[in-house]
Amino acid sequence: MYICVCNALTDKQVETAITSGCRRPDDIYSQCGTKPQCGRCAERMLELLESTDAPVSAAAHA
Ligand code: FES
Repeated sequence: MYICVCNALTDKQVETAITSGCRRPDDIYSQCGTKPQCGRCAERMLELLESTDAPVSAAAHA
C-alpha cells in the first residue's frame, strides 16, 4: 500500500525507515531518497511513527 503517492513510498518502505531510526517524516523522505511534495502523506507517517515506541518529534510536518 502506498503511503506517499507523490514519491511512490510504500508502507513497507516507511516502516523500514522508522525501524532504521527515522523519527520525523522529513527523516523518512531523506532515508528513502525523496523529498516531500504535497505533504498529504505526513499525517499517515506520523500515525506510523506514533505507533512505534520511539519518541516522535513535534516538528515533523512536511
Ligand atoms: S503523498 Fe507524499 S508528498 Fe504527496
